[in-house]
Formats: sequence, C-alpha cells, structure tokens
Amino acid sequence: MKIWITGASGMLGQDLAAQLKQVGMECIGTDMGVNITDRVAVADFLDGNSVDFVVNCAAYTAVDKAESEEDKALAVNAIGPETLALETAARGIGIIHISTDYVLNGTGPAPLTEGAPLDPQNAYGRTKAKGEIRVLMINPRHWILRTAWLYGIHGNNFIKTMLRLMAEKEKLKVVNDQWGSPTWTVDLAQAIISIVKTNDHPGTYHFSDEGCITWHTFACEIQKQAIGLGLLTREIPIEPVSSDEYPTPAKRPLWSVMDKGLIRQTFSLQVPSWKDSLSAYLALEVATRA
Ligand SMILES: NC(=O)c1ccc[n+]([C@@H]2O[C@H](COP(=O)([O-])OP(=O)(O)OC[C@H]3O[C@@H](n4cnc5c(N)ncnc54)[C@H](OP(=O)(O)O)[C@@H]3O)[C@@H](O)[C@H]2O)c1
Repeated sequence: MKIWITGASGMLGQDLAAQLKQVGMECIGTDMGVNITDRVAVADFLDGNSVDFVVNCAAYTAVDKAESEEDKALAVNAIGPETLALETAARGIGIIHISTDYVLNGTGPAPLTEGAPLDPQNAYGRTKAKGEIRVLMINPRHWILRTAWLYGIHGNNFIKTMLRLMAEKEKLKVVNDQWGSPTWTVDLAQAIISIVKTNDHPGTYHFSDEGCITWHTFACEIQKQAIGLGLLTREIPIEPVSSDEYPTPAKRPLWSVMDKGLIRQTFSLQVPSWKDSLSAYLALEVATRA
C-alpha cells in the first residue's frame, strides 16, 4: 500500500508521514511542488507514481483571511479536491479528504453527526463544504474525514500560543462559550491509517479526540500540565470571557463537538481523551525544547 500525502509540509501532513513510516507504510509527500489545483500537475504525478490512496491534507486554512479572499480559499479547498477526485477516480485510487466541522452550523447541544445538513457560517466553511461535495460526487472511493480544534507539533497552534502568552503575561482572558474537543494530529493520523488498512466503507466520518470542553478549560489544563512538566514556572490567572469580547472577521461556531460513534464502530477505533493526548503532546514539546 503506497500513500500520497498532499499538503505534506503542513501540520497534519508532517505527523501523518511520520505515523505512516512508524507502521511501515510507504508514503510520498508533496506540498506546493504539486499544486492540487493544477490538473496537469496532478495527472503527471499520478502517472509517475503508483499510489493506492491519496490523503488530501492540502488546504487554505487561514480562517479569518478567507473572509476577504474567498476565491483563493475556494481554489485550494474546492477546485483542489475536485481535481484530485477526478484524477484518482479515473485511476481507481481512493481519496481520503480532510474536512472540518465548519461545514456545519455548530448548533448544540447534541454532538454533531455526519447526517447534519451542510450549513457553513463563514467563508472558509463554505469553501470546505464545496470541496466535500465535489469529492463525494466524483470519486466513489472517498472517505471524507471531518475534524476540529486540531493541533500538532509542526504548526502554530493554540497550545503554543498559550504557552507563549502564559510565559509573557501576568493574566489572560480566554473564551469560555465555544465548545469542542481538542484533537492531536497524531490521533487523527492513526484514524487515517485505520481507514487505509480497512480500505472499505467509503463515506463521511467525524473524528476528534474524546471530550467536550471550552477553550478556557483547555487553557487551564495546558497551564496546569505545563507547570508540572517545567515548561512554565508560575501560574497566572485565566479569566473566562465570551466570544463577543473577541470579535474576529470569521464567525466561529459555538459548538464543535462531534459524534465519533460512526468512525469508532466502522473502523474499530479507540479514540483517545483530549487530556491524555495533551499530556503526550506536551511531553513532545519538552523533548523538542531540550
Ligand atoms: N488546523 C485546524 O484547526 C483544523 C481544524 C479542522 C480541520 N482542519 C483541516 O485539516 C487539514 C490539515 O490542516 P493543517 O492545519 O495541517 O493545514 P496546514 O498546516 O495549513 O497545511 C496545509 C498545507 O497545504 C499546503 N497547500 C496550500 N495550498 C496548496 C496547493 N494548492 N497545493 C498543494 N499544497 C497546498 C500549504 O502550503 P502553504 O503553507 O505554503 O500554503 C500547507 O503546507 C485541512 O484540510 C484543514 O482544513 C484543520
């Protein structure tokens, strides 16, 4: 089994490549070197490389910037997946396409299921929703994997921002009315590997780590664990605030909690808890800084 990772220099792409290597699966990664919106480039790559799956980790992920450059986001998040779907379908290759809970309207209080209607609330979500539709209409061998609140060692993420601010500031304000489940890229990579190994049951699936918390709860736990590991030397007050106090160009859903029942059952997945994965991630931060 040989896997092509697009967006391989990104946060998820790098951890996915490492995890595939660990389980002895062959993979080949490309980033802007094979522009996924360029049909000739994609076709040439597939003709020159015999692959069984593409995992599309390439995306336009600047959520706020997408409000003012939706066309650019649309190219990468919809035309790109369409191009990959067309060229993989023509060759009978499977496509695992990474998507987001932002394609839904984020209304609680029940965990979001795969059957919820597409109802994006911002430009980024609109472009990702269009990408999903094109993939599922073009290539019957598709696995659309929606995730949320993703963090990984190779990207700028919420944990790194918190660690920096907690070291610099005397106090912090963190949003306490957006709910979700922080998701480590390594755990998402394991879910992708399970799908590749099963090579069956195409469809749309939700994956995040287990748990239902706010950004404020996440920040408090980051501080607690980071102090325990010596990543921070002192505790500062973290004040819970509402999203209204932090207006952003793109509207964020208040509810990003996803139902993982389908992916758990279909691929016999164990979904780690957000707290355990945070511990594993922070241990990696310690090792990286040593
Ligand atoms: N990060 C999150 O919190 C989050 C949450 C839910 C879902 N997701 C989804 O998870 C997936 C992975 O996200 P991520 O955070 O790993 O993204 P990322 O770090 O931004 O990585 C995306 C990669 O794709 C590359 N890329 C952009 N346009 C391309 C093109 N036309 N052709 C080829 N490569 C291109 C980017 O290169 P440049 O950097 O040079 O642009 C970057 O290396 C995405 O589908 C994203 O929508 C992310």
